[in-house]
Amino acid sequence: MIKYYNDLSVIELHVNGEARKVTVRPADILLDVLREQLGLTGAKAGCKNGDCGTCTILMDGLPVKSCLVLAVEAVGHELLTVEGLSGIAPIQNAFVKYHAFQCGYCTSGFLMVCHALATTKPDADEYEMERWLESNICRCTSYQEIRSAITEVLDTASRQTERSTYATIS
Ligand code: FES
Ligand code: FES
Repeated sequence: MIKYYNDLSVIELHVNGEARKVTVRPADILLDVLREQLGLTGAKAGCKNGDCGTCTILMDGLPVKSCLVLAVEAVGHELLTVEGLSGIAPIQNAFVKYHAFQCGYCTSGFLMVCHALATTKPDADEYEMERWLESNICRCTSYQEIRSAITEVLDTASRQTERSTYATIS
C-alpha cells in the first residue's frame, strides 16, 4: 500500500512478521528506513555501496543488501532482519559455539546469509557455501570460524531433510 503526500509517501512494510508504516522519500534506501524509522539497527551501514554485506537482510527468504534496495521497492515483500531471527535460527547458536565473530560489525549480515543458505539449500556443498559467503566481508575473523558454524548447521539441516524425505516415501 502506498499513499503519496507531495514528495513523501506513506508505505507499509512487512518486517519480521509485522506490518509497519513508514514515511519515505522516493530515494530513501531500505537500510536507512529500517534503522532510523523502525529502530531495527541490526543491519549495519558499512560501504553503502553493495560491497561489504553488513546491511544484509532477507527479502522473501533470500539475502539482499538493504543499502541497494529502495524502501518503496520493498512494499509487498516479506522482510526478515536479524532481530526477527531471535530464537528461530540454529546459526546463532553455531556462531557462539565456534566464536565466529570478534567486533561483531559484520555478524548480522553473515547470520542472514547463512540462515538463508541453510533454509533454502540445506544440501549445499562446500563450493556453494563458499559462493554464498563471498557476498560478505569480515575484517576481523579468519572466516574459518564462520565456515565451521555454517558447515555444522548445513550438516544438521541436510540430515533433517533426508529424514523427512525418508519418512514421506516410507
Ligand atoms: S552497507 Fe550494504 S553492502 Fe555495504
Ligand atoms: S567480526 Fe569484525 S568485521 Fe567481522
